[in-house]
Amino acid sequence: MVVFGADSTRMQRSAQVLCVRDVSLQRRHIVSFMTRFLRQCRRPSGLFGRIVARGMNVGHIPVTLWGLDHLPGDPHKAVLDVGCGGGATMRRLAGYHASPLVCGIDLSCDSARVSRRRNAGLLEEGRGLVARANVTALPFADGAFDLVTAVETHYFWPDLDHDLKEVLRVLAPGGRLMIAGEDYKGSKFEARNIRWVKAAGMRHLTPEELCQACVGAGFADVQMFVDEDRGWVCAVGTRAVQDADGDGERPATS
Ligand SMILES: C[S@@+](CC[C@H](N)C(=O)[O-])C[C@H]1O[C@@H](n2cnc3c(N)ncnc32)[C@H](O)[C@@H]1O
Repeated sequence: MVVFGADSTRMQRSAQVLCVRDVSLQRRHIVSFMTRFLRQCRRPSGLFGRIVARGMNVGHIPVTLWGLDHLPGDPHKAVLDVGCGGGATMRRLAGYHASPLVCGIDLSCDSARVSRRRNAGLLEEGRGLVARANVTALPFADGAFDLVTAVETHYFWPDLDHDLKEVLRVLAPGGRLMIAGEDYKGSKFEARNIRWVKAAGMRHLTPEELCQACVGAGFADVQMFVDEDRGWVCAVGTRAVQDADGDGERPATS
């Protein structure tokens, strides 16, 4: 019996050790899955990337609707969604404004692929275009759009100051930019956001810093909106009808 008792205690201890190992292994798996997922958000790639892009089409609906709510209701002739991901925002914009043209660009060819499928009808009608492109060098003429949207993407742009000027370049005078995101520095979700920022290599700005970046790039009438409860931020800026120096020249994109 003593031997059995000793064995049983040893077995219980081994089981406990295995359990602890199991839990820490599970935790490590969850962390590594989250890190992989967040990296995919930065630039979806491969099958997992396409699944993530489709998931974001659903997961980003609330912040997208909230961001779009901050735009005046006037109809748009040509709209560009930068970092279009799986293409849900493009599709929504097409329905909202009956726009003749809705374009999307994304750095990731897998995002662009999902977006093309999502907007197949629009593309077939000749009312849409999805291009694999970098916000740093948009493949569009000066003043081509009267609205540019950017949902959950500005954190990943390589050079925010330059890239905002590039967005300004493709906006027609009077056109608007709307940036929306689920992360800003100083929100009540700071601890979680820092984990996102580290895992995905995101830019982490206060609303004031985002506002300053828009103003610095040359946007006029920049308005900032913050939903403190949900930790969301939105910036809306306008391309002035006349540039600050009054010469009607488009700003240089250095
Ligand atoms: C978090 S996802 C958001 C996608 C989509 N806007 C949405 O709300 O579901 C970020 C997207 O921005 C794209 N992106 C990242 N850097 C970019 C860049 N430099 N130029 C264009 N797109 C970029 C990524 O490839 C990715 O599809």
